[in-house]
Amino acid sequence: MKIKGVVVRVPGKVNLHLGVGPLDPDGYHEVTTIFQAIALYDDVTVKFGASETGIVLALTGSTAAGVPADSTNLAYRAAALMIERYSLTPDLSIHLKKEIPVAGGMAGGSADAAGVLAGIDALFELGLSRDELERIAAELGSDVPFSIAGGIAIGRGRGDQITPVLSRGSYHWVLALAGSGLSTPAVYGECDRLREGLDISRPQVNDAMMQALRAGDAQAVGSALSNDLQAAACSLRPALRLVLDVGMDYGAYGGIVSGSGPTVAFLVSDEEKALDLTVALSASGVVAGVIRASGPTHGARVIETL
Ligand code: C5P
Repeated sequence: MKIKGVVVRVPGKVNLHLGVGPLDPDGYHEVTTIFQAIALYDDVTVKFGASETGIVLALTGSTAAGVPADSTNLAYRAAALMIERYSLTPDLSIHLKKEIPVAGGMAGGSADAAGVLAGIDALFELGLSRDELERIAAELGSDVPFSIAGGIAIGRGRGDQITPVLSRGSYHWVLALAGSGLSTPAVYGECDRLREGLDISRPQVNDAMMQALRAGDAQAVGSALSNDLQAAACSLRPALRLVLDVGMDYGAYGGIVSGSGPTVAFLVSDEEKALDLTVALSASGVVAGVIRASGPTHGARVIETL
């Protein structure tokens, strides 16, 4: 029997390391980053539409409010790209069930786009390899290939050239959410402004982090967390420093602004610590919400056929 639709589950991410090089003439920065996919998911349903209506996008979920359901949404653009590239019938119904924070530095929009790519691949039985999907993903945004890949991976170039990292252990994260998002270009721009006149070298992989991941040593991973965009995110949103202080005072292994922020991710030893820090952050009054999630987890994956 022919399938009518698929549901793809796609994870959010934190950056364990984000090294940012100088501004390139194309408006991007060369980065070297280490991503970890975490168990906080958007579910993307892709179905054949009922009539010749083109792409119809709908959103639900705890973080869906205010997200556009039109052609400006990266998920919509992902569908349009696949339809054009593979000459598909342009008649799709896409539903995003969103739980990943929006504009939070956790690749929520990228996850949705990755879900659409993987969903269309499955629905039309295109048989694309992970490599092919990641190449198309890179045309949509720097973080989209990692949303396809999942796990732990190094991202080079714009962050879109993915190499998986073999690692051990699982990691307990507490995510401190902000009431409103930060624009990625604005944070990169602030980073350039803060570094004006400085000689910025090419970004490197963080050896201490790679060693900690190989050993599965969460405490060492916590100590090695680093993000060149953190100062810029804190400059645009000074309250983030208070959030970082609460988590570190509490005894987290490490705390970091995730990507371009404003989500702050704390690494803790176990589930009990995670629960305690959740209570402490909630009581502090400096965060809009707190979520616990473990990592690493899988990338975009079909979890149901309809
Ligand atoms: O690739 P993506 O659309 O996610 O990038 C959004 C913006 O973030 C870019 O327009 C650019 O301003 C900034 N960016 C950057 N260097 C990167 C990735 C993103 O400057 N490596």
